Amino acid sequence: MKLLITGGAGFIGSNFIYYIQDRYPDYELVCLDLLTYAGNLKTLDKALKKNNFCFIKGDISDRETVFSLFETEKFDVVVNFAAESHVDRSIENPSVFLQTNIIGTQVLMDACRKYDVKRYHQVSTDEVYGDLPLERADLFFTEETPIHTSSPYSASKASADLLVLAYYRTFGLPVTISRCSNNYGPYHFPEKLIPLIISRALADESLPVYGKGLNVRDWLYVEDHCSAIDLIIHNGRVGEVYNVGGHNERTNIEVVKAILAHLGKPESLITYVKDRAGHDLRYAIDPTKINNELGWSHQTGFEDGIKKTIDWYLNNRSWWEDIISGDYKNYYEKMYGNR
Ligand code: NAD
Ligand code: DAU
Repeated sequence: MKLLITGGAGFIGSNFIYYIQDRYPDYELVCLDLLTYAGNLKTLDKALKKNNFCFIKGDISDRETVFSLFETEKFDVVVNFAAESHVDRSIENPSVFLQTNIIGTQVLMDACRKYDVKRYHQVSTDEVYGDLPLERADLFFTEETPIHTSSPYSASKASADLLVLAYYRTFGLPVTISRCSNNYGPYHFPEKLIPLIISRALADESLPVYGKGLNVRDWLYVEDHCSAIDLIIHNGRVGEVYNVGGHNERTNIEVVKAILAHLGKPESLITYVKDRAGHDLRYAIDPTKINNELGWSHQTGFEDGIKKTIDWYLNNRSWWEDIISGDYKNYYEKMYGNR
């Protein structure tokens, strides 16, 4: 089996490459990644040591690059992780989100049609459903929840999902979509809440919490997301959407305090800052469909997962210290300087 994994130099894509290499050592893997600010070839150091893995630098929205790659490689399965993924950046500059997340998806699917790829899998997000009220803990996102987006990021991901379903209905392209909740774990870029808090707390720097810190996210350890995609590409029904989540809801302030407690750092580092524009209140996934149809359930709860994640950041300092010492400094100053 030959898989194309796009966006594999980023957080979830790289974890997926390691997951697949571990479970299916005979599969041939090709990673296509533009190496934007979020992509890091160092992350794939170990993967690159295997003969049946190869890395190609390129843009999923560049038709020529994508079609010539498909012409030479003859993929069986394409898993599209490549995206602009940070909500805050989409508020600053939406254009690149539309280009990569929507046009990139279209170009990949056009290539899948032309070269008879057996499965196109779109890695989507629970953010396409918008948000749930804080005071209604009984409500969850199901696959039937209407699309209702808040940020340019989520609107671009929802647009891509609609295109994927249109390519299934109109052209019969064999597609599947997964919509997962917030991931955390190794190789998470330090602009996102959990690695940002870990890296700044370790340096005794202030910890920016948006608004009152009461927004709720449903956290899933990244390996559990990888196992869900593995099941969907092998056994999932074509044309279907699968929600992925493990009922690990936490307010942001609970997450920050849990990290501080593990690190033995004081809560006085917490600084409440101006809220994110259009900030979604609560995400919570109902994973009944993937549980029942594919037998998937999450294996790592939040307490174990956050401990493993913190240990990873403590043991892999050079990975994230290199990142935060470069351009990231300017990013942080721009986004948080006057907040
Ligand atoms: P990430 O930002 O860490 O990685 C994205 C990767 O895509 C990077 O390696 C980047 O270089 C690459 N990329 C960006 N533009 C590209 C382009 N035009 N062509 C080729 N490569 C390009 O993102 P992530 O957090 O790993 O998310 C991966 C996917 O999972 C995204 O589609 C995201 O929407 C989705 N998702 C993320 C989460 C989460 O919590 N992080 C949850 C659910 C779904
Ligand atoms: O739900 C899935 C989504 O999860 C993915 O589709 C996105 O790609 C991924 O980035 C993530 O989006 P969020 O916006 O939920 O993640 P982020 O880590 O940016 O923020 C998590 C919560 O923490 C959110 O409520 C905003 C808040 N936050 C974030 C940052 C960066 C803060 O309070 N302070 C911060 O500095």
